[in-house]
Amino acid sequence: MDSRHVRNFCIIAHVDHGKSTLADRLLELTGTVDARQITAQFLDSMDLERERGITIKGKAVLMRYRARDGQEYQLNLIDTPGHVDFSYEVSRALAACEGALLVVDASQGIEAQTIANTFLALEHNLILIPVVNKIDLSSAEPERVAQELIGALGFTHEEIIFASGKDGTGVPEVLEAVVSRVPPPRGSADAPLRALIFDSKYDPYKGVLAYLRVTDGGVAVNEKVLLMASGTTAEVLEVGVFRPHLTPTGALATGEVGYLATGLKNVRDCRVGDTITLASRPAQQPLPGYRPLKPMVFASLYPSEGQSYEALRDALGKLQLNDAALTFEPESSAALGFGFRCGFLGLLHMDIVQERLEREYDLDITVTAPSVAYQVLRTDGQEEMVESPAQLPSPAAIQEIREPWISVTLIAPSRYLGNMLEFLSQRRGQHRRMEYLSTGSQEAADTRSPIHDPRVLLEYEMPLAELLVDFYDQLKARTQGYASLDYHLLGYRPGSLVKLDILINNQPVDALSFVVHRDKAYEYGRAL
Ligand code: GTP
Repeated sequence: MDSRHVRNFCIIAHVDHGKSTLADRLLELTGTVDARQITAQFLDSMDLERERGITIKGKAVLMRYRARDGQEYQLNLIDTPGHVDFSYEVSRALAACEGALLVVDASQGIEAQTIANTFLALEHNLILIPVVNKIDLSSAEPERVAQELIGALGFTHEEIIFASGKDGTGVPEVLEAVVSRVPPPRGSADAPLRALIFDSKYDPYKGVLAYLRVTDGGVAVNEKVLLMASGTTAEVLEVGVFRPHLTPTGALATGEVGYLATGLKNVRDCRVGDTITLASRPAQQPLPGYRPLKPMVFASLYPSEGQSYEALRDALGKLQLNDAALTFEPESSAALGFGFRCGFLGLLHMDIVQERLEREYDLDITVTAPSVAYQVLRTDGQEEMVESPAQLPSPAAIQEIREPWISVTLIAPSRYLGNMLEFLSQRRGQHRRMEYLSTGSQEAADTRSPIHDPRVLLEYEMPLAELLVDFYDQLKARTQGYASLDYHLLGYRPGSLVKLDILINNQPVDALSFVVHRDKAYEYGRAL
Protein backbone atom coordinates (compact mmCIF):
# COMPACT_ATOMS: atom_id res chain seq x y z
CA MET A 1 0.00 0.00 0.00
CA ASP A 2 1.06 3.60 -0.63
CA SER A 3 2.93 4.54 2.54
CA ARG A 4 0.88 7.76 2.83
CA HIS A 5 -2.01 5.51 3.87
CA VAL A 6 -0.08 3.45 6.39
CA ARG A 7 -0.04 4.21 10.11
CA ASN A 8 2.21 2.33 12.54
CA PHE A 9 1.34 2.71 16.21
CA CYS A 10 1.44 0.98 19.55
CA ILE A 11 -0.37 1.17 22.86
CA ILE A 12 1.53 2.04 26.00
CA ALA A 13 -0.01 1.79 29.44
CA HIS A 14 0.63 0.78 33.00
CA VAL A 15 -0.17 -2.88 33.80
CA ASP A 16 -3.94 -3.53 33.84
CA HIS A 17 -4.97 -0.12 32.54
CA GLY A 18 -6.80 -1.89 29.72
CA LYS A 19 -4.37 -2.04 26.82
CA SER A 20 -5.35 -5.50 25.57
CA THR A 21 -9.08 -4.90 25.98
CA LEU A 22 -8.84 -1.70 23.95
CA ALA A 23 -6.82 -3.56 21.29
CA ASP A 24 -9.61 -6.16 21.09
CA ARG A 25 -12.16 -3.40 20.39
CA LEU A 26 -9.94 -1.94 17.65
CA LEU A 27 -9.67 -5.38 16.01
CA GLU A 28 -13.42 -5.83 16.22
CA LEU A 29 -14.33 -2.38 14.89
CA THR A 30 -12.03 -2.76 11.89
CA GLY A 31 -13.43 -6.22 11.15
CA THR A 32 -9.97 -7.78 11.61
CA VAL A 33 -11.35 -10.34 14.01
CA ASP A 34 -14.94 -11.41 14.23
CA ALA A 35 -16.56 -10.41 17.55
CA ARG A 36 -17.47 -14.06 18.09
CA GLN A 37 -13.86 -15.15 17.63
CA ILE A 38 -12.51 -12.75 20.22
CA THR A 39 -11.48 -14.63 23.27
CA ALA A 40 -10.98 -11.76 25.66
CA GLN A 41 -7.62 -10.13 25.00
CA PHE A 42 -6.77 -11.54 21.62
CA LEU A 43 -3.25 -10.21 21.57
CA ASP A 44 -2.31 -11.94 24.82
CA SER A 45 -2.14 -15.39 23.27
CA MET A 46 0.37 -17.18 25.47
CA ASP A 47 -1.43 -19.16 28.21
CA LEU A 48 0.77 -17.79 30.92
CA GLU A 49 0.05 -14.25 29.76
CA ARG A 50 -3.64 -14.76 29.79
CA GLU A 51 -3.61 -16.22 33.28
CA ARG A 52 -1.40 -13.52 34.71
CA GLY A 53 -3.13 -10.83 32.68
CA ILE A 54 0.18 -9.42 31.54
CA THR A 55 1.69 -9.01 28.13
CA ILE A 56 5.03 -10.79 27.97
CA LYS A 57 5.83 -10.90 24.29
CA GLY A 58 5.03 -8.15 21.82
CA LYS A 59 2.98 -8.97 18.76
CA ALA A 60 1.60 -7.10 15.80
CA VAL A 61 -1.57 -6.96 13.80
CA LEU A 62 -2.59 -5.33 10.52
CA MET A 63 -6.03 -3.69 10.39
CA ARG A 64 -7.76 -2.21 7.37
CA TYR A 65 -9.82 0.83 8.24
CA ARG A 66 -12.00 3.06 6.09
CA ALA A 67 -11.74 6.45 7.75
CA ARG A 68 -14.37 9.20 7.82
CA ASP A 69 -12.49 10.86 4.93
CA GLY A 70 -13.47 7.85 2.77
CA GLN A 71 -9.88 6.65 2.38
CA GLU A 72 -8.85 3.11 3.33
CA TYR A 73 -5.83 2.94 5.64
CA GLN A 74 -3.53 0.16 6.73
CA LEU A 75 -3.14 0.42 10.51
CA ASN A 76 -0.36 -1.63 12.04
CA LEU A 77 -0.76 -2.06 15.77
CA ILE A 78 2.41 -3.28 17.46
CA ASP A 79 1.76 -4.65 20.92
CA THR A 80 4.51 -3.88 23.43
CA PRO A 81 5.46 -6.03 26.40
CA GLY A 82 4.28 -4.11 29.44
CA HIS A 83 6.91 -5.03 32.01
CA VAL A 84 10.12 -3.29 33.00
CA ASP A 85 12.13 -6.52 32.46
CA PHE A 86 11.42 -6.16 28.76
CA SER A 87 12.09 -2.46 28.34
CA TYR A 88 14.62 -3.01 25.54
CA GLU A 89 11.95 -4.84 23.51
CA VAL A 90 9.55 -2.00 24.29
CA SER A 91 12.10 0.49 22.97
CA ARG A 92 12.47 -1.48 19.70
CA ALA A 93 8.69 -1.74 19.28
CA LEU A 94 8.46 2.03 19.79
CA ALA A 95 11.21 2.57 17.23
CA ALA A 96 9.02 0.71 14.71
CA CYS A 97 6.12 3.18 15.19
CA GLU A 98 5.32 6.83 14.52
CA GLY A 99 2.64 7.14 17.18
CA ALA A 100 1.35 5.65 20.42
CA LEU A 101 -1.90 5.55 22.33
CA LEU A 102 -1.13 6.42 25.93
CA VAL A 103 -3.81 4.64 27.92
CA VAL A 104 -4.53 5.61 31.53
CA ASP A 105 -7.17 4.00 33.74
CA ALA A 106 -9.79 6.59 34.77
CA SER A 107 -10.14 5.01 38.21
CA GLN A 108 -6.37 5.00 38.90
CA GLY A 109 -4.53 7.80 37.12
CA ILE A 110 -0.92 8.06 36.03
CA GLU A 111 1.33 5.30 37.36
CA ALA A 112 5.09 4.76 37.29
CA GLN A 113 5.01 2.81 34.03
CA THR A 114 2.86 5.49 32.39
CA ILE A 115 5.64 7.99 33.02
CA ALA A 116 8.48 5.65 32.02
CA ASN A 117 6.75 4.64 28.77
CA THR A 118 5.84 8.22 27.92
CA PHE A 119 9.45 9.34 28.20
CA LEU A 120 10.60 6.35 26.17
CA ALA A 121 8.05 7.21 23.45
CA LEU A 122 9.10 10.86 23.42
CA GLU A 123 12.75 9.82 23.05
CA HIS A 124 11.68 8.06 19.85
CA ASN A 125 9.77 11.17 18.66
CA LEU A 126 6.41 9.42 18.71
CA ILE A 127 3.16 11.37 18.51
CA LEU A 128 1.20 10.51 21.66
CA ILE A 129 -2.58 10.23 21.78
CA PRO A 130 -3.72 10.34 25.42
CA VAL A 131 -6.70 8.09 26.21
CA VAL A 132 -8.47 8.13 29.55
CA ASN A 133 -9.86 4.59 29.62
CA LYS A 134 -12.44 2.60 31.63
CA ILE A 135 -14.75 5.60 31.97
CA ASP A 136 -17.67 3.15 32.39
CA LEU A 137 -16.45 2.23 35.89
CA SER A 138 -18.47 3.72 38.74
CA SER A 139 -15.20 4.65 40.47
CA ALA A 140 -13.90 6.44 37.36
CA GLU A 141 -12.77 10.06 37.76
CA PRO A 142 -12.05 11.00 34.14
CA GLU A 143 -11.61 14.72 34.86
CA ARG A 144 -9.13 14.20 37.69
CA VAL A 145 -7.08 11.83 35.53
CA ALA A 146 -7.27 14.24 32.58
CA GLN A 147 -5.88 16.97 34.87
CA GLU A 148 -2.97 14.67 35.80
CA LEU A 149 -2.20 14.15 32.11
CA ILE A 150 -2.32 17.90 31.55
CA GLY A 151 -0.33 18.85 34.67
CA ALA A 152 2.31 16.12 34.74
CA LEU A 153 2.78 15.31 31.06
CA GLY A 154 1.80 18.54 29.32
CA PHE A 155 -1.19 17.41 27.22
CA THR A 156 -4.07 19.76 26.38
CA HIS A 157 -7.67 18.92 27.29
CA GLU A 158 -8.73 18.85 23.61
CA GLU A 159 -6.20 16.11 22.81
CA ILE A 160 -7.55 13.69 25.39
CA ILE A 161 -9.98 10.98 24.28
CA PHE A 162 -12.32 9.55 26.90
CA ALA A 163 -13.01 5.88 26.21
CA SER A 164 -14.04 2.51 27.52
CA GLY A 165 -12.50 -0.59 26.01
CA LYS A 166 -15.24 -2.53 27.72
CA ASP A 167 -18.37 -0.92 26.24
CA GLY A 168 -16.69 0.63 23.18
CA THR A 169 -17.28 4.32 24.05
CA GLY A 170 -14.73 6.55 22.33
CA VAL A 171 -13.13 3.72 20.35
CA PRO A 172 -14.16 5.10 16.91
CA GLU A 173 -12.56 8.42 17.96
CA VAL A 174 -9.38 6.55 18.84
CA LEU A 175 -9.21 5.09 15.30
CA GLU A 176 -9.84 8.49 13.71
CA ALA A 177 -7.14 10.05 15.89
CA VAL A 178 -4.63 7.40 14.77
CA VAL A 179 -5.34 8.29 11.14
CA SER A 180 -5.36 12.07 11.58
CA ARG A 181 -2.68 12.60 14.24
CA VAL A 182 -0.07 9.89 13.60
CA PRO A 183 2.12 10.77 10.61
CA PRO A 184 2.63 8.25 7.80
CA PRO A 185 5.98 6.40 7.82
CA ARG A 186 8.90 8.26 6.26
CA GLY A 187 11.56 6.34 4.38
CA SER A 188 12.92 5.97 0.91
CA ALA A 189 11.39 3.32 -1.35
CA ASP A 190 14.42 3.46 -3.68
CA ALA A 191 17.10 3.09 -1.00
CA PRO A 192 18.58 -0.33 -0.13
CA LEU A 193 16.41 -2.37 2.22
CA ARG A 194 16.56 -1.51 5.92
CA ALA A 195 14.07 -3.27 8.19
CA LEU A 196 14.01 -3.21 11.99
CA ILE A 197 13.43 -6.50 13.84
CA PHE A 198 11.16 -5.73 16.79
CA ASP A 199 10.49 -9.34 17.76
CA SER A 200 11.52 -12.82 16.71
CA LYS A 201 10.07 -16.20 17.30
CA TYR A 202 11.10 -19.77 16.53
CA ASP A 203 8.73 -21.81 14.39
CA PRO A 204 9.56 -25.52 13.98
CA TYR A 205 8.47 -25.53 10.30
CA LYS A 206 9.60 -22.14 9.01
CA GLY A 207 12.60 -21.50 11.24
CA VAL A 208 12.95 -18.17 13.00
CA LEU A 209 10.28 -15.64 12.10
CA ALA A 210 11.53 -12.07 12.17
CA TYR A 211 8.80 -9.54 12.99
CA LEU A 212 9.85 -6.38 11.26
CA ARG A 213 9.09 -2.89 10.15
CA VAL A 214 10.46 -1.90 6.74
CA THR A 215 12.07 1.52 7.01
CA ASP A 216 13.63 1.85 3.52
CA GLY A 217 13.31 -0.22 0.34
CA GLY A 218 11.32 -3.44 0.16
CA VAL A 219 11.75 -7.19 0.53
CA ALA A 220 10.27 -10.14 -1.35
CA VAL A 221 10.17 -13.91 -1.04
CA ASN A 222 13.27 -15.88 -2.23
CA GLU A 223 15.60 -12.90 -1.77
CA LYS A 224 18.76 -13.35 0.27
CA VAL A 225 18.95 -11.12 3.33
CA LEU A 226 21.76 -10.10 5.66
CA LEU A 227 21.33 -9.40 9.38
CA MET A 228 23.70 -6.51 9.90
CA ALA A 229 24.65 -6.94 13.59
CA SER A 230 24.97 -10.73 13.67
CA GLY A 231 26.41 -11.02 10.15
CA THR A 232 24.09 -13.97 9.43
CA THR A 233 22.60 -14.45 5.96
CA ALA A 234 19.33 -16.21 5.24
CA GLU A 235 16.97 -16.92 2.40
CA VAL A 236 13.49 -15.43 2.68
CA LEU A 237 11.22 -18.49 2.70
CA GLU A 238 8.02 -16.54 3.25
CA VAL A 239 6.97 -12.88 3.66
CA GLY A 240 3.68 -11.74 5.02
CA VAL A 241 1.52 -9.71 7.38
CA PHE A 242 -0.46 -10.36 10.56
CA ARG A 243 -4.21 -10.55 9.84
CA PRO A 244 -3.94 -11.34 12.81
CA HIS A 245 -2.60 -14.80 11.89
CA LEU A 246 0.42 -15.06 9.58
CA THR A 247 -0.77 -14.35 6.04
CA PRO A 248 1.75 -14.60 3.18
CA THR A 249 1.82 -11.59 0.79
CA GLY A 250 5.01 -12.29 -1.19
CA ALA A 251 6.53 -8.88 -0.42
CA LEU A 252 6.64 -5.97 2.03
CA ALA A 253 7.05 -2.35 0.95
CA THR A 254 8.51 0.76 2.61
CA GLY A 255 6.73 1.65 5.84
CA GLU A 256 4.96 -1.70 6.21
CA VAL A 257 5.00 -4.09 9.15
CA GLY A 258 5.07 -7.86 8.76
CA TYR A 259 7.23 -10.96 9.07
CA LEU A 260 9.92 -12.92 7.23
CA ALA A 261 10.47 -16.65 7.62
CA THR A 262 14.23 -17.11 7.62
CA GLY A 263 14.77 -20.84 8.10
CA LEU A 264 17.28 -19.95 10.86
CA LYS A 265 17.35 -22.38 13.77
CA ASN A 266 17.91 -20.06 16.69
CA VAL A 267 16.51 -16.66 17.72
CA ARG A 268 20.05 -15.71 18.73
CA ASP A 269 20.89 -15.36 15.03
CA CYS A 270 17.96 -13.00 14.53
CA ARG A 271 17.99 -10.65 17.48
CA VAL A 272 15.53 -7.95 18.37
CA GLY A 273 16.92 -4.58 17.28
CA ASP A 274 19.05 -5.94 14.42
CA THR A 275 18.64 -4.48 10.92
CA ILE A 276 17.78 -6.67 7.93
CA THR A 277 19.13 -5.66 4.53
CA LEU A 278 19.54 -7.36 1.15
CA ALA A 279 22.72 -9.43 0.74
CA SER A 280 22.95 -8.34 -2.92
CA ARG A 281 22.54 -4.60 -2.18
CA PRO A 282 23.33 -3.99 1.47
CA ALA A 283 22.58 -0.70 3.24
CA GLN A 284 25.57 1.39 4.35
CA GLN A 285 24.41 1.95 7.91
CA PRO A 286 22.17 -0.18 10.14
CA LEU A 287 19.21 1.44 11.90
CA PRO A 288 20.25 2.92 15.25
CA GLY A 289 19.60 1.51 18.70
CA TYR A 290 20.74 -2.11 18.51
CA ARG A 291 22.26 -3.67 21.59
CA PRO A 292 22.58 -7.32 22.55
CA LEU A 293 20.34 -8.32 25.44
CA LYS A 294 22.27 -8.75 28.65
CA PRO A 295 20.92 -10.74 31.58
CA MET A 296 20.82 -8.67 34.77
CA VAL A 297 19.62 -11.18 37.34
CA PHE A 298 21.23 -14.54 38.03
CA ALA A 299 20.12 -17.62 39.96
CA SER A 300 21.02 -21.31 40.06
CA LEU A 301 18.52 -23.95 39.04
CA TYR A 302 18.91 -27.49 40.36
CA PRO A 303 16.70 -30.47 39.59
CA SER A 304 14.96 -31.69 42.72
CA GLU A 305 15.68 -35.14 43.96
CA GLY A 306 14.85 -37.93 41.56
CA GLN A 307 14.79 -35.58 38.56
CA SER A 308 17.39 -35.63 35.91
CA TYR A 309 19.97 -33.04 35.08
CA GLU A 310 19.69 -33.95 31.38
CA ALA A 311 15.95 -33.28 31.36
CA LEU A 312 16.58 -29.81 32.81
CA ARG A 313 19.35 -29.13 30.27
CA ASP A 314 17.10 -30.16 27.37
CA ALA A 315 14.23 -28.03 28.64
CA LEU A 316 16.45 -24.94 29.08
CA GLY A 317 17.83 -25.51 25.58
CA LYS A 318 14.33 -25.61 24.13
CA LEU A 319 13.25 -22.46 25.99
CA GLN A 320 16.38 -20.71 24.76
CA LEU A 321 15.39 -21.37 21.12
CA ASN A 322 12.68 -18.77 21.64
CA ASP A 323 14.29 -16.63 24.30
CA ALA A 324 17.50 -14.90 23.28
CA ALA A 325 17.90 -13.31 26.72
CA LEU A 326 18.04 -16.55 28.73
CA THR A 327 21.55 -17.84 29.43
CA PHE A 328 22.65 -20.98 31.30
CA GLU A 329 25.90 -22.64 32.23
CA PRO A 330 26.51 -25.92 34.07
CA GLU A 331 27.37 -25.58 37.74
CA SER A 332 27.80 -28.06 40.55
CA SER A 333 27.42 -27.78 44.27
CA ALA A 334 28.33 -30.26 47.00
CA ALA A 335 24.92 -29.77 48.63
CA LEU A 336 22.63 -29.50 45.61
CA GLY A 337 24.38 -31.66 42.98
CA PHE A 338 24.50 -30.71 39.31
CA GLY A 339 22.54 -27.75 38.01
CA PHE A 340 22.79 -24.54 36.00
CA ARG A 341 23.66 -20.92 36.66
CA CYS A 342 21.07 -19.02 34.67
CA GLY A 343 20.84 -15.37 33.61
CA PHE A 344 17.54 -13.48 33.28
CA LEU A 345 16.44 -9.97 32.32
CA GLY A 346 14.75 -9.48 35.69
CA LEU A 347 12.60 -11.14 38.33
CA LEU A 348 9.51 -11.55 36.14
CA HIS A 349 11.58 -13.17 33.41
CA MET A 350 13.01 -15.53 36.02
CA ASP A 351 9.53 -16.39 37.31
CA ILE A 352 8.31 -17.07 33.79
CA VAL A 353 11.20 -19.41 33.01
CA GLN A 354 10.72 -21.27 36.28
CA GLU A 355 6.98 -21.60 35.72
CA ARG A 356 7.41 -22.81 32.15
CA LEU A 357 9.95 -25.44 33.22
CA GLU A 358 7.49 -26.70 35.79
CA ARG A 359 4.38 -26.56 33.65
CA GLU A 360 5.50 -27.30 30.14
CA TYR A 361 8.34 -29.70 30.97
CA ASP A 362 6.93 -31.17 34.16
CA LEU A 363 10.14 -30.48 36.10
CA ASP A 364 10.47 -29.93 39.80
CA ILE A 365 13.34 -27.54 40.44
CA THR A 366 15.10 -25.77 43.28
CA VAL A 367 15.97 -22.13 42.58
CA THR A 368 18.56 -20.26 44.65
CA ALA A 369 18.11 -16.63 45.73
CA PRO A 370 18.52 -14.23 42.78
CA SER A 371 21.58 -12.02 42.60
CA VAL A 372 23.18 -9.50 40.27
CA ALA A 373 26.47 -9.65 38.35
CA TYR A 374 29.43 -7.84 39.92
CA GLN A 375 32.32 -6.12 38.22
CA VAL A 376 35.47 -7.03 40.10
CA LEU A 377 38.70 -5.09 39.86
CA ARG A 378 41.55 -7.32 41.03
CA THR A 379 44.63 -6.03 42.80
CA ASP A 380 46.64 -7.00 39.70
CA GLY A 381 44.55 -4.52 37.66
CA GLN A 382 42.47 -7.17 35.84
CA GLU A 383 38.71 -6.64 35.58
CA GLU A 384 36.17 -9.45 35.43
CA MET A 385 32.40 -9.98 35.58
CA VAL A 386 31.29 -12.33 38.33
CA GLU A 387 27.83 -13.81 37.88
CA SER A 388 27.87 -16.06 40.90
CA PRO A 389 29.06 -15.21 44.42
CA ALA A 390 30.89 -18.57 44.43
CA GLN A 391 33.22 -17.26 41.71
CA LEU A 392 34.28 -14.21 43.69
CA PRO A 393 38.09 -14.12 44.14
CA SER A 394 39.50 -14.21 47.68
CA PRO A 395 39.24 -10.85 49.50
CA ALA A 396 43.01 -10.35 49.29
CA ALA A 397 42.83 -10.40 45.47
CA ILE A 398 40.05 -7.80 45.27
CA GLN A 399 40.72 -4.10 44.97
CA GLU A 400 37.15 -3.01 44.26
CA ILE A 401 33.73 -4.56 43.68
CA ARG A 402 31.18 -2.65 41.59
CA GLU A 403 27.47 -3.40 41.48
CA PRO A 404 24.66 -2.33 39.10
CA TRP A 405 22.63 0.74 40.15
CA ILE A 406 19.16 1.66 38.97
CA SER A 407 16.99 4.76 38.88
CA VAL A 408 13.63 3.94 40.45
CA THR A 409 10.40 5.87 39.94
CA LEU A 410 7.61 5.31 42.46
CA ILE A 411 4.12 6.78 42.51
CA ALA A 412 1.75 6.42 45.46
CA PRO A 413 -0.95 8.26 47.39
CA SER A 414 0.70 10.83 49.66
CA ARG A 415 -0.37 9.18 52.93
CA TYR A 416 2.29 6.52 52.32
CA LEU A 417 5.10 8.99 51.71
CA GLY A 418 6.70 8.52 55.15
CA ASN A 419 6.61 4.73 54.83
CA MET A 420 8.19 4.85 51.42
CA LEU A 421 10.98 7.25 52.38
CA GLU A 422 11.89 5.08 55.34
CA PHE A 423 11.79 1.90 53.27
CA LEU A 424 13.92 3.35 50.46
CA SER A 425 16.60 4.56 52.84
CA GLN A 426 16.78 1.05 54.34
CA ARG A 427 17.43 -0.20 50.82
CA ARG A 428 20.42 2.11 50.34
CA GLY A 429 18.31 4.44 48.20
CA GLN A 430 19.52 7.96 47.38
CA HIS A 431 16.86 10.62 46.97
CA ARG A 432 16.80 12.43 43.61
CA ARG A 433 13.37 14.02 43.10
CA MET A 434 9.92 14.36 44.62
CA GLU A 435 6.87 15.85 42.90
CA TYR A 436 3.14 16.02 43.52
CA LEU A 437 1.25 14.89 40.42
CA SER A 438 -2.14 16.09 41.55
CA THR A 439 -3.70 17.99 44.39
CA GLY A 440 -6.16 15.19 45.15
CA SER A 441 -9.82 15.17 44.28
CA GLN A 442 -12.79 17.06 45.77
CA GLU A 443 -13.76 13.98 47.71
CA ALA A 444 -10.40 13.93 49.49
CA ALA A 445 -11.76 15.81 52.48
CA ASP A 446 -14.69 13.52 53.09
CA THR A 447 -13.35 10.13 52.05
CA ARG A 448 -10.88 7.81 53.65
CA SER A 449 -9.86 6.11 50.43
CA PRO A 450 -6.20 6.58 49.44
CA ILE A 451 -7.34 6.83 45.80
CA HIS A 452 -8.42 10.42 46.45
CA ASP A 453 -5.15 11.48 48.11
CA PRO A 454 -2.78 13.75 46.22
CA ARG A 455 -0.37 11.45 44.42
CA VAL A 456 3.33 11.83 44.84
CA LEU A 457 6.16 10.79 42.55
CA LEU A 458 9.54 9.81 43.99
CA GLU A 459 12.73 9.25 42.08
CA TYR A 460 15.55 7.38 43.81
CA GLU A 461 18.81 5.78 42.86
CA MET A 462 19.68 2.47 44.48
CA PRO A 463 21.58 -0.78 43.89
CA LEU A 464 19.65 -3.31 41.78
CA ALA A 465 20.51 -5.99 44.34
CA GLU A 466 18.26 -4.23 46.87
CA LEU A 467 15.29 -4.70 44.56
CA LEU A 468 15.79 -8.44 44.20
CA VAL A 469 15.06 -9.54 47.71
CA ASP A 470 11.52 -9.06 48.89
CA PHE A 471 11.25 -5.49 47.56
CA TYR A 472 7.88 -5.73 45.82
CA ASP A 473 6.17 -7.49 48.74
CA GLN A 474 7.56 -5.04 51.29
CA LEU A 475 6.57 -2.07 49.16
CA LYS A 476 3.10 -3.47 48.70
CA ALA A 477 2.73 -4.04 52.43
CA ARG A 478 3.85 -0.50 53.27
CA THR A 479 1.56 1.15 50.71
CA GLN A 480 -1.38 -1.27 50.87
CA GLY A 481 -0.70 -2.14 47.24
CA TYR A 482 -1.19 1.43 46.00
CA ALA A 483 2.41 2.12 44.92
CA SER A 484 3.56 1.54 41.38
CA LEU A 485 7.18 1.20 40.40
CA ASP A 486 9.40 1.35 37.36
CA TYR A 487 13.19 1.45 36.99
CA HIS A 488 16.01 1.61 34.52
CA LEU A 489 19.66 0.76 34.73
CA LEU A 490 22.23 3.49 35.42
CA GLY A 491 25.51 1.54 35.34
CA TYR A 492 28.04 0.00 37.74
CA ARG A 493 29.21 1.78 40.88
CA PRO A 494 31.75 0.70 43.52
CA GLY A 495 30.38 -0.42 46.87
CA SER A 496 31.59 -1.77 50.17
CA LEU A 497 30.55 -5.34 49.43
CA VAL A 498 31.46 -8.62 51.03
CA LYS A 499 30.67 -12.27 50.42
CA LEU A 500 28.58 -13.99 53.04
CA ASP A 501 29.20 -17.74 53.21
CA ILE A 502 26.69 -20.12 54.68
CA LEU A 503 28.12 -23.12 56.47
CA ILE A 504 26.33 -26.42 56.84
CA ASN A 505 28.20 -28.84 59.14
CA ASN A 506 31.03 -26.30 59.15
CA GLN A 507 31.38 -26.54 55.36
CA PRO A 508 30.58 -23.52 53.15
CA VAL A 509 27.83 -24.27 50.63
CA ASP A 510 28.75 -22.43 47.44
CA ALA A 511 25.27 -22.27 45.98
CA LEU A 512 23.93 -20.52 49.09
CA SER A 513 26.56 -17.82 49.52
CA PHE A 514 25.70 -14.28 48.50
CA VAL A 515 27.18 -10.80 48.33
CA VAL A 516 25.92 -8.11 50.72
CA HIS A 517 26.82 -4.59 51.74
CA ARG A 518 29.29 -4.67 54.61
CA ASP A 519 26.92 -2.76 56.92
CA LYS A 520 24.20 -5.35 56.42
CA ALA A 521 26.27 -8.53 56.62
CA TYR A 522 25.81 -9.01 60.35
CA GLU A 523 22.06 -8.41 60.24
CA TYR A 524 21.66 -10.82 57.28
CA GLY A 525 23.78 -13.47 58.96
CA ARG A 526 21.67 -13.32 62.11
CA ALA A 527 18.40 -13.44 60.17
CA LEU A 528 19.29 -16.75 58.50
P1 GTP B 1 -1.37 -5.88 30.75
O1 GTP B 1 -1.43 -6.85 29.60
O2 GTP B 1 -1.08 -6.53 32.05
O3 GTP B 1 -0.52 -4.69 30.49
O4 GTP B 1 -2.86 -5.37 31.00
P2 GTP B 1 -3.70 -4.57 30.03
O5 GTP B 1 -3.33 -3.15 30.14
O6 GTP B 1 -3.68 -5.23 28.70
O7 GTP B 1 -5.14 -4.67 30.65
P3 GTP B 1 -6.35 -5.61 30.24
O8 GTP B 1 -6.93 -5.23 28.93
O9 GTP B 1 -5.90 -7.02 30.44
O10 GTP B 1 -7.41 -5.18 31.34
C1 GTP B 1 -7.16 -5.30 32.73
C2 GTP B 1 -8.49 -5.50 33.46
O11 GTP B 1 -9.31 -4.34 33.29
C3 GTP B 1 -9.33 -6.67 32.91
O12 GTP B 1 -9.96 -7.29 34.00
C4 GTP B 1 -10.34 -6.01 31.99
O13 GTP B 1 -11.52 -6.74 31.90
C5 GTP B 1 -10.56 -4.67 32.68
N1 GTP B 1 -10.88 -3.61 31.72
C6 GTP B 1 -10.18 -3.26 30.63
N2 GTP B 1 -10.76 -2.22 30.00
C7 GTP B 1 -11.86 -1.89 30.71
C8 GTP B 1 -12.87 -0.86 30.58
O14 GTP B 1 -12.89 -0.04 29.66
N3 GTP B 1 -13.82 -0.84 31.55
C9 GTP B 1 -13.85 -1.72 32.59
N4 GTP B 1 -14.82 -1.60 33.47
N5 GTP B 1 -12.92 -2.66 32.74
C10 GTP B 1 -11.94 -2.77 31.82
